[in-house]
Amino acid sequence: MRILIKNGHILDPASGTDEVKDLLIEEDRIAKLEKNSKHKADRVIDATGCYVMPGLIDLHVHLRDPGFTHKETIETGALAAARGGYTTICAMPNTNPVMDNRDRIGFVHRKAAAEAVVNVLQIGAITEGQNGEYLADIAGMAEEGAPAISEDGKSVMNTKLYLKGMKQAAACGLKVFAHCEEKTLAGNGVMHKSARAKELGMPEISHAVEDIITARDILLAKEAGADLHLCHVSTADSVKMIALAKKAGYRITAEACPHHFTLSVEDIQKDDPNFKMNPPLRDPEDVEAIRQGIADGTIDVISTDHAPHTMQEKGVSMLGAPFGIVGLETAASLAYTELVETGILTPMQMVEKMSYNGAKIIGSEKGTLAPDSVADIVIFDPRETYVIDAAEFASKGRNTPFQGRRVKGRVRCTIVAGEVVYEKETH
Ligand code: NCD
Ligand code: ZN
Repeated sequence: MRILIKNGHILDPASGTDEVKDLLIEEDRIAKLEKNSKHKADRVIDATGCYVMPGLIDLHVHLRDPGFTHKETIETGALAAARGGYTTICAMPNTNPVMDNRDRIGFVHRKAAAEAVVNVLQIGAITEGQNGEYLADIAGMAEEGAPAISEDGKSVMNTKLYLKGMKQAAACGLKVFAHCEEKTLAGNGVMHKSARAKELGMPEISHAVEDIITARDILLAKEAGADLHLCHVSTADSVKMIALAKKAGYRITAEACPHHFTLSVEDIQKDDPNFKMNPPLRDPEDVEAIRQGIADGTIDVISTDHAPHTMQEKGVSMLGAPFGIVGLETAASLAYTELVETGILTPMQMVEKMSYNGAKIIGSEKGTLAPDSVADIVIFDPRETYVIDAAEFASKGRNTPFQGRRVKGRVRCTIVAGEVVYEKETH
């Protein structure tokens, strides 16, 4: 099978290509990039006016499979990913059972190969059952192809154990993905410490809950000689610490999520569980610092922290609802609207943050449109504006704070290994 993508604006950070060219796919590979291609193809896609980019890579999703398949499955999460322009997603280990050994990682990889339309990489837990007591089978999970270890959903509060885990990860070539949250300090908080939380009578989560652990984990990773990736950074002080650590040459990378560069705690009008996520929406000054960190390179990656929950679970007060919002199907549009349209990022830099840099972090050869690489591609139309409607999501989750929001830029087509896995119908 040959697919010819005609007249698209190619954005490939690996080669620096930033111009209109045709892209030819042969079977599962990118065969050629050239102007005015005369190649015959089984299918021609007219991409005039669109960006043609390496498929997006999400380092942070929750697929809920096994164990919580009423919230999402590998199959539905992958469909949501394809709809969002993602061709590779990294799943967090807080499933049931927790992904803490070789066999479980292998189980998900085999299931994904059979059921998922995109590539799924399963991240391993740091401790058995994420209980914080004994280290998980880190070497076994590395051998089974896990890209990283993470205790996402909580921090490893036992610092000595975490140091040992980080050393093992370093020895196995695994990254450490850190969810920074001082659990004892977070208590039963549900909203960022703010006037708005007080107005709504909600228990609070302070900046320090995140920042204390950001500081600890940076120093601990340095001591362990591990590669640390800080998940869902949400505070101005964490951005400062990351910048400092990078300047000092520490091996550290960081990600931020669309909700943290788009919304602040002040956007929470009422007790609405679709605005409850961990870390929480912070002060406008934090949002500004995240945007600045994205612009100046302190923040390497945009990830979604896609965290689906059912309507029933989210249909109660913020006090009782679980933390988390879906993100796979809105991230590209939000990044384009909030970061590219505003001049914070160039389109090329958006591709770096949403694909190329993530690939580098997990040591993957993806994230490029170089000839001979696997044809994982997204075609993105920067001209289209639309209103986000959760009813259209392929995810089982409908829990988004962006319902009804107008955005600019939309995924038109997603291709995985030379196969079209999502295509927006044109009327
Ligand atoms: C995540 C979840 O639901 O699994 N929720 C969230 O708000 N991000 C867990 C986590 O990453 O904290
Ligand atoms: Zn987390």
